[in-house]
Amino acid sequence: MKTQVKKATPEAIAEAAQLIREGQLVGMPTETVYGLGGNALDAEAAKRIFEAKGRPGDNPLIVHVSCVEEIPPLVRAIPPAARRLMDAFWPGPMTLILPKADCIPAEVSAGLDTVGIRLPANEAARALIREAGRPIAAPSANRSGRPSPTTAQHVFEDMDGRIPLILDDGPCEVGVESSVIDATGDVPVILRPGGITPEMVQEVIGGVRVDEHVMSPLREGDVVRSPGMKYKHYAPRAKTTIFEGEQTHVVEAICREYDEQTARGEHVAILGFDEHDFGGRLRISLGSVHRPQEAAARLFAALRELDELGETVALCEAVDLSGIGLAVMNRMGRAAGFDIRDTDAGDEP
Ligand code: TXA
Ligand code: MG
Repeated sequence: MKTQVKKATPEAIAEAAQLIREGQLVGMPTETVYGLGGNALDAEAAKRIFEAKGRPGDNPLIVHVSCVEEIPPLVRAIPPAARRLMDAFWPGPMTLILPKADCIPAEVSAGLDTVGIRLPANEAARALIREAGRPIAAPSANRSGRPSPTTAQHVFEDMDGRIPLILDDGPCEVGVESSVIDATGDVPVILRPGGITPEMVQEVIGGVRVDEHVMSPLREGDVVRSPGMKYKHYAPRAKTTIFEGEQTHVVEAICREYDEQTARGEHVAILGFDEHDFGGRLRISLGSVHRPQEAAARLFAALRELDELGETVALCEAVDLSGIGLAVMNRMGRAAGFDIRDTDAGDEP
């Protein structure tokens, strides 16, 4: 199959909508990451999605809608807390886990009794769903085990020959996948951190929990609330370490480690902030240290770049865990197998 990449014009969106109606798959932009979309009410389309991604069949897909009016037929209930989150944060980078209705095929929900619903902010995504006339199931459009795609080019790298069309709407603004929030109970539980932060949820609901696995590696026997947690997440080929602590300590420690590893013959790259001086050592930018959203938007492309450059060691600056920083550290942490070094450790207490 030949894979075409087309700018997300009204004509291209109409063509993509037709493909979705025919049961085919389309690479689609969203504000978080690019998705691999198919008709969410069609079990065969769902099977094609799992096949194109090489994804395990027990990891459920998120169902995307173009407006809240499309949701009632897809779920059995909308609890009051869920309703408040929808009002506050949709359209936007948030997926709500709700009790699923029978029209959602078991292939989409991976046999679970719940379904993840998302109303994306990206205009082209919403136009596509509206024109297709059906909700669209879409996981991130990477091959399983690769970083999520934040440009149409990334989708092409992973899906060339597997799908007929990719809609190109430029780089994704948020850059990390949506916050997945279990909204089936009274207190929302964040299963995957993203652009809608615990602080934002707390502000609206007055209570929030963050799943314990967000900042720790999974151990044998752990029970997970979201199937996605149990799969090995993308890790670059480079041995990756995160350095946290006071900024001058972090920069010093990274430079020292860089030189030691280079002397051993390793190919080393730094994932670091623009304001910090690494003395000419190879740095892939995470943007401004004052704007953690830039690190979110750049992280997945930076991880792809590490592999392309053939780096064997990656040294990353940590991001503060507040706000979107939790999502950045969750993805960076997984890429590093949660190898996090405290550079203040030698300090007086
Ligand atoms: O930003 C996003 O969410 C992107 C764009 C395309 O919308 N999509 C995305 O989908 O990241 P995916 O399939 O790569 O990640 C969905 C995550 C998985 O970790 C999955 O286990 C979890 O959401 N999930 C989906 N349905 C669930 C459910 N019913 N209960 C618990 N977790 C669920
Ligand atoms: Mg994914």
